[in-house]
Amino acid sequence: MASKKKTTAFFCQECGFESAKWTGQCPGCRAWNTMVEEPVRIKAPAGAAAGRAVGPGKRPVPLSQVGEEQEIRFGTGFQELDRVLGGGIVRGSMILVGGDPGIGKSTILLQACGNLAGAGHRVLYISGEESLRQIALRARRVGEFGDNITFLCETDLDTISEILLETKPEICVVDSIQTMYSSSVQSAAGSVSQVRETTGVLLRLAKEAGITFFIVGHVTKEGTVAGPRVLEHMVDTVLYFEGDRYAAYRVLRAVKNRFGSTNEIGIFEMGEHGLTEVTNPSEYMLSGRPVGASGSVVTCSMEGTRPLLTEVQALVFETRFGYPRRQATGTDANRVNLLMAVLEKRLGIRLGDYDAYVNLAGGVRQTEPALDLGIVLAILSSFRNSPLPEDLIAFGEVGLSGEVRSVTMAESRVLEAYKMGFRTCILPAGNAGRVRAPEDMRLIGIRGLQQIRDYI
Ligand code: TYD
Ligand code: MG
Repeated sequence: MASKKKTTAFFCQECGFESAKWTGQCPGCRAWNTMVEEPVRIKAPAGAAAGRAVGPGKRPVPLSQVGEEQEIRFGTGFQELDRVLGGGIVRGSMILVGGDPGIGKSTILLQACGNLAGAGHRVLYISGEESLRQIALRARRVGEFGDNITFLCETDLDTISEILLETKPEICVVDSIQTMYSSSVQSAAGSVSQVRETTGVLLRLAKEAGITFFIVGHVTKEGTVAGPRVLEHMVDTVLYFEGDRYAAYRVLRAVKNRFGSTNEIGIFEMGEHGLTEVTNPSEYMLSGRPVGASGSVVTCSMEGTRPLLTEVQALVFETRFGYPRRQATGTDANRVNLLMAVLEKRLGIRLGDYDAYVNLAGGVRQTEPALDLGIVLAILSSFRNSPLPEDLIAFGEVGLSGEVRSVTMAESRVLEAYKMGFRTCILPAGNAGRVRAPEDMRLIGIRGLQQIRDYI
């Protein structure tokens, strides 16, 4: 008798890890309670079969025989989005847009597609989540849409493939991948095998028919549907749309990009009529900064090619309950702990009996080492209850011996600060000598934390 073939396996809904037996913690990404049982593929999936289909004409070639094909890029009408993409969307590429439900993924794609259609490109927007009426309602809020953009409510992949091959749009949005269903996989829509299979089929269409795809992937907390991380390795570009649902700002961040850098961010604001770009993010980040308050210091980090001024806030006060609390919002909590240890050891400041809360105002999460000096000054300023001059900005990496180390692109940071009205800058001595700044910008280069005693 033939042995019974196993027809199900356990998949991690976070990272897609496959395992024969259930485990409480995923061995792949260490997330808890994310393993879900799903049928294993029975029929060969169309996407995988296409990958194997090597025609008679296919043979390995040296690079010298590869013609130089021009990369064709389209502008989306949003400079912030184009920059994050590395200078517009590349024809035939696949872009995954991930984010929490309700953050504005459908809105930004609808607006970008509206712009693309306005510029003469043919766009197809496929929604598996909303009815045409709902889409029309949103569209009416955000602008005018001509006949170059068409809409389709469909979740069946076979129908979608047929329509795509027939109509050959230049750009296609699939909103969202977790609602799409291919009959070659047995499991439900949103399962790991389904999202991988449907993405595989669309990927083949992207490469063969030259269709550019935007794929929407919801980030889910419950683990009932597969998250966008499962697809990250398959697509060309991965963007995440982040932000607080209840605040107006939204940050678009590239975490993978085959056609550009991954450090760029784009900042948008959600309003009554959709999303608008924030073209001067430093001004935006500093709006509402308290004047003359202790524990508040402005610092500058580089987000890709762009300097971004941010206010660091610290609140340090005596512990009431024995064990001191340390909390960081918008930056790495371990880094804050480390900097406090450096302050204690190198400057002899007893912070052990104090609670400390550090917050990077503005809601853009930043972890660059150049923020160190700003964090240290904010903590000291709150500890001593002594406000720093209003026109002061500080940046620099702090080492374990309390030394202040040079950072990259110091000049851009200083010029951005100057543009925003700052006239005093504390920076690493290694940078200070080389920065060319306007005459009325006072540069204070320091080698170690001992030197900041003079300023606070
Ligand atoms: P949506 O794009 O539907 O989110 P996602 O596709 O990521 O799930 O955005 C929904 C939210 O955005 C919703 O809470 C309403 C808000 N919104 C506005 O504030 N202004 C607008 O003009 C639009 C279209 C949406
Ligand atoms: Mg949506």
